[in-house]
Amino acid sequence: MLELRNPEAPASPAEAPAWTRKDLLDTDTLSNAEIQLILETAEGMREVRNRPVAKVATLRGVTVITLFYEQSTRTRASFEVAAKALGADVVNLTASGSSVEKGETLIDTIRTLEAIGADLVVMRHGKSGAPYLAARNTAAGIINGGDGTHAHPTQALLDLFTMRRHAGDLAGKRVVIVGDVLHSRVARSNLWTLLASGADVTLCGPATLVPRTLASQVSELGRCTVTTNLDDAISGADIVMALRMQKERQEKGLIPSLREYIAGYQVNARRLAKARPGALVMHPGPMNEGIEIAPDVAHGVASVIEEQVANGVAVRMAILYLMATARRP
Ligand code: CP
Repeated sequence: MLELRNPEAPASPAEAPAWTRKDLLDTDTLSNAEIQLILETAEGMREVRNRPVAKVATLRGVTVITLFYEQSTRTRASFEVAAKALGADVVNLTASGSSVEKGETLIDTIRTLEAIGADLVVMRHGKSGAPYLAARNTAAGIINGGDGTHAHPTQALLDLFTMRRHAGDLAGKRVVIVGDVLHSRVARSNLWTLLASGADVTLCGPATLVPRTLASQVSELGRCTVTTNLDDAISGADIVMALRMQKERQEKGLIPSLREYIAGYQVNARRLAKARPGALVMHPGPMNEGIEIAPDVAHGVASVIEEQVANGVAVRMAILYLMATARRP
């Protein structure tokens, strides 16, 4: 369990975290040791969160800026709570109401935030790759809070943290991710952490949303299969993660109708009964209850969806702590 160091006490080399990355952009390049470090640090942060006064001054003097070009509830709020719980100064910016509306470029915005004193910038952007561009153009640490259809690393890490707390070692465990895999940054980032943990992953959805090209790509990864049949996929599963189904997918002709999608791919009690006893139900949120997940399952005994959200604070505290501490001279 991590002991959060008294900020007044000098760091000894033995206490120094083994985190060296300036940025956290995706999970695909994280080593097992780095993933383990984040999860162990998050356990310590959970303990901090459970204290009567759930605050420490470890990041006093650190400035964290959240820069969101897209809507968010969980990611933005939990990063803010996480940063404040560690004693950091927090500034929240959205594209709406900022100089982005006057045409300021992403690079100019990031450089402006650095000039203001940002140490870490948590960034969400609708375009895949935007945080990578930002990271190349600033000395501030960039944390990807979700970019286009590409990656959502902190979501995958909080998902992994939640899975491990319930299911323990994931080696050999069967995890089903069902829904719009094609457009899901959550599915993509989860795939890397799950494969690194030794889990067997099944990606499931209509052929238009889990295309053959993806199937051939993931088949090279091993321990990852693709299917269009949820009833088969869910049989014997240890963990079932439903993804949000955006109504626009129907307008774009990717699913025939929401009614047919529900019939084939909703995670409901009948299907969940085929999973292993004690199987976990997860969802990154926001949920469309009654579409990709039945309300009784979303709020049932198997669901750890609210716990995912709560764990998001501890995991994001861990990430902020590791990244900010690694920047100290
Ligand atoms: N899971 C997730 O990213 O939720 P928000 O869009 O509310 O941040």
